[in-house]
Amino acid sequence: MAVVNYIHTRGHISTKVGEEMKLEDIKTIAVLGAGTMGHGIAQICAMAGFNVNLMDIKEEILKGAMEKIKWSLSKFVEKRRISQEQADQAFSRIKTMTSLEEAVKNADFVIEAVPENLDLKKKVFADVDKNAPPHTIIASNTSSLPIPEMADATNRPDKVVGMHFFNPPQMMLLVEVISHDKCSEDTVKVTVDLAKKLGKVPIIVRKYVPGFVVNRILGAYTWEAAWMVYRGEATPVEIDSALMYKVGLPMGPFELADLVGLDIYVAQEKMAPLLQKYEPRPRPICPLFSEYVKEGKLGRKVGKGFYEYKKTEAGWERPSIPREAGEKIDPVWIMALAVNEAAALIRTGIATRDDIETGVKLGLGFPRGILEMADEWGIDRIVEVLREKQKKYPDLKDVYEPDPLLVDMVNKGQLGKKSGKGFYDYEKPTEFRTIIAKKEPPIGWIILNRPERLNAINAEMIEEISRALDMFEEDKDVRVVVFKGAGDRAFSAGADVTTFRFQPPAFNTAVFTFRMHRLTQKIEWYPKIVIAAINGYALGGGLELAMACDLRIASDKSQLGQPEVNLGIIPGWGGTQRLARIVGPAKAKELCLLGERIPAEEAYKLGLVNKVVPAEKFDEEVKNFAMRIAEGAPLAQRAIKYAVNFGWQAPLSTGLMLEAMGLALAANTKDAIEGVTAFLQKRKPKFKGE
Ligand code: COA
Repeated sequence: MAVVNYIHTRGHISTKVGEEMKLEDIKTIAVLGAGTMGHGIAQICAMAGFNVNLMDIKEEILKGAMEKIKWSLSKFVEKRRISQEQADQAFSRIKTMTSLEEAVKNADFVIEAVPENLDLKKKVFADVDKNAPPHTIIASNTSSLPIPEMADATNRPDKVVGMHFFNPPQMMLLVEVISHDKCSEDTVKVTVDLAKKLGKVPIIVRKYVPGFVVNRILGAYTWEAAWMVYRGEATPVEIDSALMYKVGLPMGPFELADLVGLDIYVAQEKMAPLLQKYEPRPRPICPLFSEYVKEGKLGRKVGKGFYEYKKTEAGWERPSIPREAGEKIDPVWIMALAVNEAAALIRTGIATRDDIETGVKLGLGFPRGILEMADEWGIDRIVEVLREKQKKYPDLKDVYEPDPLLVDMVNKGQLGKKSGKGFYDYEKPTEFRTIIAKKEPPIGWIILNRPERLNAINAEMIEEISRALDMFEEDKDVRVVVFKGAGDRAFSAGADVTTFRFQPPAFNTAVFTFRMHRLTQKIEWYPKIVIAAINGYALGGGLELAMACDLRIASDKSQLGQPEVNLGIIPGWGGTQRLARIVGPAKAKELCLLGERIPAEEAYKLGLVNKVVPAEKFDEEVKNFAMRIAEGAPLAQRAIKYAVNFGWQAPLSTGLMLEAMGLALAANTKDAIEGVTAFLQKRKPKFKGE
């Protein structure tokens, strides 16, 4: 039965007929436009189990799209992320059509991915509105155009939303969900839920602003960098080098522009007048990109842009960007404006701190959040740089005006890491950035949380894990600690190799290694039992961390290995040592020398993991396993752990002595009395760890 709902959307009230939509109500998704983005989006929708109507204007475009989907699905199968059967099923869920009316008439959710032309989009939205059922949500995958205007082209503005995927949608985890004044909260919620169901990480943009979150931040530092080059203050290679080696970005703005195509940037610049009224702080366009385009330097696709490119059999070579090139450049000088934009997004309630951080990490490959970096640079320093720029370029005074949030932070002494508080609170021991520490008594979870880098371990993660262990050690409710990786692809793919680019002096490498040794040994000395729950890759440092744990449980789709030799290095966090002690020296040498990954089943046969469970039941099985440990006698467990950990490396006599001491200690506990009493009374013991 139809009901009438009144939806309050920040002052706006709209009337809508029909039940509220929920994720479960979505069965069929129409994807309009089968270009680069469209076919990728159709594929992931089908992989998530939805029926897909993929529509484009020409049969041959659709045919090409289906071929690309087939190829991409085969890559997923090759990488063992899905089975051949799952790929076939996904493929068969996609129907192609050239009629919009037919594509949307039974669709519960529509994703528009037609070319970036506002008039065209408005027309498509009006047509969809006419032909789709009343409950259907219409989302645009635009990366820049005003969503409110698309909403106004329909009679259901509350059900129009932005859903911005990143290219290629099959691989990129991020999705920006863009709300606007007339959009209902339900629409945002369903879109967020759908993004999650597609295996993506959604961030919410509360109000339409050009560039949303990710391209707004990218746009700010690209603009700054472009003017620096245009004014002759720096060269592209100097800027790219500074951002790569000093900030850790995967590539600087000029190499990225070459990759994307400078003509695309110029086309974007041409849209500026259309977006002007939504732009809180317009910036004058830098002529640099259009000058390059005029000279035919469009970027990598033509072999020259800001850099020259050589094509080899393996594809285009990356340009040489030496580390020394950026030595003179202060990265804060390039990034201050981007931090200012991020601050404005928070202050105006458009995005949260955490969503911004997720956005730059997943969308731009930042090694850390931009606000985390700002805290390290110092909020006062950011404001100071912006003010210096205001003085230096008086005609850009408004552009460089420090955001009131930053000024307020400085006034309150919230200067970042050095003052203990900035965008993050450094005095709050429970605030983590690279892990999630979650208590679910009697289990304490430590979730390695850098899914965008397959949970690769960096210095900060080592420090945070150590802090989380301390926290759970004190906590009486926690009996067992379980390590797990965020997402469903990896426990951890090892040490973060992007930090290797810094080519640190040997001594620093050693110090970084010692830190991890301190952590793995802390786990071995830890008074509670620690389990590694491996769901996906456990490679390099990931496996080394898992090997320091007391027990390892793996999903059947996991792969384990020490691949360092493939990078021309060797395991550094105990791989050659603990692995040899667990599987024996010959097998350990084989694994380290070949650097190959082995499946969970084989690891089980080698004694490297204690148990293998089906991936679909992983969470449940891990919990059951941890609960069984948590029910045991904690002090006796500790004595066993120490006797094994420290006895196996020692002569048998010393090991036996450790065991005797452990027994003597355990036998003198209340738990021992409880254990024996319960046995005699034929009941289950209740151990208290006393
Ligand atoms: N450090 C930093 N980033 C890593 C990483 C690591 N150890 N392992 C994976 N990543 C990143 C990738 O660079 C990629 O980032 P991008 O999306 O910005 O390009 C992302 O995680 C996903 O990995 P990708 O390689 O695209 O996935 P895949 O399914 O093709 O391959 C692996 C997965 C694990 C086989 C592959 O990533 C790999 O070999 N990683 C390195 C493992 C290693 O050598 N570890 C020891 C380090 S000492």
